[in-house]
Amino acid sequence: MEIQTLWSAISQIRCRYHRWLGGDFDYRSAYRKADLGRNYWRIIGADSQEEFEALGRAKLKLLVGLGLTSRSRVLDVGCGTGALTEVLLDYLGPQGLYYGTDLALEAVAFCEQKYRRPNFCFRTNELTRVPIDGLQFDFIYFGSVFTHVYPDEIRALLVEVSRLLDPGGQIVGDLFVDAGVDRFRGHRGMVVSNEGFLIEVLNTTGLRHDVLGSHPCPPELHHAYRRWPCGPQTRRLTCRFQHGSAPSCARRVAS
Ligand SMILES: C[S@@+](CC[C@H](N)C(=O)[O-])C[C@H]1O[C@@H](n2cnc3c(N)ncnc32)[C@H](O)[C@@H]1O
Repeated sequence: MEIQTLWSAISQIRCRYHRWLGGDFDYRSAYRKADLGRNYWRIIGADSQEEFEALGRAKLKLLVGLGLTSRSRVLDVGCGTGALTEVLLDYLGPQGLYYGTDLALEAVAFCEQKYRRPNFCFRTNELTRVPIDGLQFDFIYFGSVFTHVYPDEIRALLVEVSRLLDPGGQIVGDLFVDAGVDRFRGHRGMVVSNEGFLIEVLNTTGLRHDVLGSHPCPPELHHAYRRWPCGPQTRRLTCRFQHGSAPSCARRVAS
């Protein structure tokens, strides 16, 4: 149910922004052009501050459903302008810890200014390198990040953050799959992978994973098929990764 709420919020944003995200989209240059002081919600696709906040609440609900507590240590890779950060400011107690990272310097600078708490830290990361050492996290969240990177980069990011994952911790991320795609297709506005191919790639991370939710791409996006690499078979999966190499992709699909 939590995932359904989150997914419908994200779908609306995707439909609205399909032109903007098409072609040679890249987040670093989008942040350089954005006016975050005026509308920090727009860069992550929300139409208003209210929508941005609703998205944050839906993300929080998802993580709480998976066991997040006020003492959890959270790494939010691709934190953007802080949809999850904002809700965690109230939710995490002094014993909790939050690290937000993003590719874009502007996103990190914005978050450092806006979300000030001693146990909230921000870092700029490279495409597949997260510059944090010596810490362990209970939750590592990739919210609408794997949807913008290619399968080998998803793999590299997972391997990179697995060294920061507590033995009992969980990595949560969403990604697009389509049975009709040969390996993968798309661009940094939206990357869609063949699920079988992606599972092969994910099986080399040393992490086990399961699918928490699977939702179809909204029909509005199919009309923009030439621009968007999605069609009637495209689905957005919310996946969880944990330590251990038990047989992968045991599916536990939420309704
Ligand atoms: C759709 S926004 C989502 C932002 C935030 N996670 C949220 O849910 O509101 C995608 C964000 O991921 C960032 N991003 C894309 N690729 C990344 C990568 N390889 N490492 C870190 N951040 C990345 C972008 O700069 C952008 O801020």
